[in-house]
Amino acid sequence: MTENTRPDGIIIALDGPAGSGKSSTAKAVAERLGYRHLDSGAFYRAITYAALQAGIDPDRWETLSGDELDRLDVHGVPGERGYVMTVGGRDVSAEIRMPRVNEHVSRMAAVPTVREWLMDALRESGARGGLVADGRDIGTVVFPEAELKAYLIADAEERARRRLMEQGEADLSEQHVRVEAARLQGRDELDSNRAAAPLRQAEDAVVIDTTHLTLEQQVQRIVELARERGGVDPGGEVA
Ligand code: CDP
Ligand code: CDP
Repeated sequence: MTENTRPDGIIIALDGPAGSGKSSTAKAVAERLGYRHLDSGAFYRAITYAALQAGIDPDRWETLSGDELDRLDVHGVPGERGYVMTVGGRDVSAEIRMPRVNEHVSRMAAVPTVREWLMDALRESGARGGLVADGRDIGTVVFPEAELKAYLIADAEERARRRLMEQGEADLSEQHVRVEAARLQGRDELDSNRAAAPLRQAEDAVVIDTTHLTLEQQVQRIVELARERGGVDPGGEVA
């Protein structure tokens, strides 16, 4: 049945709060299965970056029209294993991780017009299946029919420590970790309390607490679940 509707494999949805390991896990699972990875947060980040660069006042973001969003010229260009975000044809993979974007992205993502504007592009990425998508509303809104949904969680301080290490930060003192944890929790709160597609666990999601897991362990767990749910690589071999 899966093979008919999804010739390239199943859809795997990974959701969870900031820094819980969704993107790293999704990327590794996609590599393991020969699937494509969709980092949906990167799309919200690229729109935020483009609006900031265009000098559009964040107070006006709520009123952005579809035409204005089109003019920002934001695209996710499909690559072999994922999508490269571009603005005005320029690769902005590094720019969308800047602190300025971190600070503003949840505000942009709360705008219903922005979410609607993106929806077709996000759904299109799963048209043939064979996709591991990560974000906040993948299992609830974007791909509610996904064959496998996982909701990743981890203690806030552990998430903060991972985020700082990822950024090459040398200062991992308790104080610094606490400040970063508060930043992540602030974003989680905005994402969880907004009216449009809030961050929440899908009823049929498997919850994985990664606080005491290694990246390899959580990847392995999801690959096993994918195998149980019919995940096969495009060559037809069982994953
Ligand atoms: O990687 P990190 O957890 O820091 O965030 P991200 O996945 O890059 O997402 C950045 C922001 O985009 C989130 O804080 C949400 O506000 C928004 N987002 C969303 O609203 N819906 C999604 N499916 C993905 C991201
Ligand atoms: O996408 P999300 O914001 O949920 O997290 P991420 O961007 O994948 O960042 C998580 C960071 O923690 C990455 O540097 C991972 O290598 C690291 N990490 C993890 O994800 N899981 C572990 N069990 C240990 C470390």
